[in-house]
Amino acid sequence: MALVARTRQRDHLLKGPGTLLYRCQEAGLPMTAACSGQGACGKCVLTVLAGADTLEPATAHEQSVLARNGAGADQRLACQCQPSGRPQNLLITTGYW
Ligand code: FES
Repeated sequence: MALVARTRQRDHLLKGPGTLLYRCQEAGLPMTAACSGQGACGKCVLTVLAGADTLEPATAHEQSVLARNGAGADQRLACQCQPSGRPQNLLITTGYW
């Protein structure tokens, strides 16, 4: 099982429980989160480079916020994604890392 955040410098292994937003912040990665993870602002959008099928589908609320912010089909809200406990290989990035 590997959850990896790719920056321009290197890959960061994300550990621990919690949302992708929390895991990225715990890894010291800068995250834009104007609503502090409430799923309202849409600023924590990230791009899933691989392993999207291992995430739970976006809820109607997440889909609504993504659409309102013009997100692509390969993007999710970091604050709304909590990887399941099943084995997965997930590779994520943002436009500003
Ligand atoms: S931090 Fe605002 S939607 Fe995720």
